[in-house]
Amino acid sequence: MSGGFISAAKRFSGQERILHDNNGTHFVKEKSMKLKGKTAIVTGSARGIGRGIARVFAREGANLVLNSRTADERAVSELLEEMRQLGGNAIFVKGDVSNETVIEDLVQKTLTAFKRIDILVNNAGIGGSKAVLDTSLELWEKILRIDLTSVFLFSKRVIPEMIKQGGGKIVNISSTYANFGSRGVAAYCAAKAGVSSLTRQMAVDYSSQNININAIIVGFIETEMTRNKWTDQNYREGMIQTIPVRRSGTPEEIGYAALFLSTEDSRFICGHNLVVDGGQGILQHF
Ligand SMILES: NC(=O)c1ccc[n+]([C@@H]2O[C@H](COP(=O)([O-])OP(=O)(O)OC[C@H]3O[C@@H](n4cnc5c(N)ncnc54)[C@H](OP(=O)(O)O)[C@@H]3O)[C@@H](O)[C@H]2O)c1
Repeated sequence: MSGGFISAAKRFSGQERILHDNNGTHFVKEKSMKLKGKTAIVTGSARGIGRGIARVFAREGANLVLNSRTADERAVSELLEEMRQLGGNAIFVKGDVSNETVIEDLVQKTLTAFKRIDILVNNAGIGGSKAVLDTSLELWEKILRIDLTSVFLFSKRVIPEMIKQGGGKIVNISSTYANFGSRGVAAYCAAKAGVSSLTRQMAVDYSSQNININAIIVGFIETEMTRNKWTDQNYREGMIQTIPVRRSGTPEEIGYAALFLSTEDSRFICGHNLVVDGGQGILQHF
């Protein structure tokens, strides 16, 4: 960890400081158990950004309900063990969150295990978009269903539970593609613009019932979804040049933003799309 501002990890007085260098992989982070006793559903959390969010929440002591469509038994048991080691308490519910039956199953298992739902992170999503002329109706509907309709369906199921409990937090994972066009990415851009807009709209309707609904505009994060981009060195270098901090983000950096939007620290923030992109959206490209 040369060049870092801190290079060790230690425990003290009940709080764990996770101390890392400043190469962007991690920040100095104090474990303050901000989510102790809180239950958070994070959709699409077996890998990538969802798993990064789950890690940050686990360190804060959350009860976690994790999910994906395809994780096998071994992957699930490693995931749950990782959460336990970090300080969280987790269950896993398999299934496609664009399917109402799966959503109902996930909600029922959450209530059985933890009795309440304090936080919903609508993270699950897929890429695979093409330009309009190359997009079949089937592909369009698949991407819209997973990337946008799942947010509508999950929120519709969970908001009444939050109202019964007296409040809650919803964090929707959107994208810089919500704000800009990108070559050959029709359905995904439309879906993420929909997520950002639906976030504002739901916040208008339900904030008075103590439900905070916000979104994160996520920049370039090297995950499975973006593998074909970051494994192409030319593409990757070109992309990094468009990011003022000169690197891609990490799943945990999205997790810290989701944590902020999931605690009382952000209670007066309503229907906001928080940009977490290393400054990519503020740079003018000529
Ligand atoms: N990576 C980026 O640069 C970037 C930028 C902006 C926004 N985002 C957004 O961030 C979110 C996470 O992306 P990621 O980069 O972490 O992708 P990823 O590495 O492909 O991970 C996606 C996760 O979601 C699960 N998933 C996908 N569809 C699902 C469904 N219908 N139901 C349940 N689980 C599902 C996947 O597992 P299974 O395949 O097993 O279901 C996986 O665990 C997405 O909403 C994406 O649009 C990513």
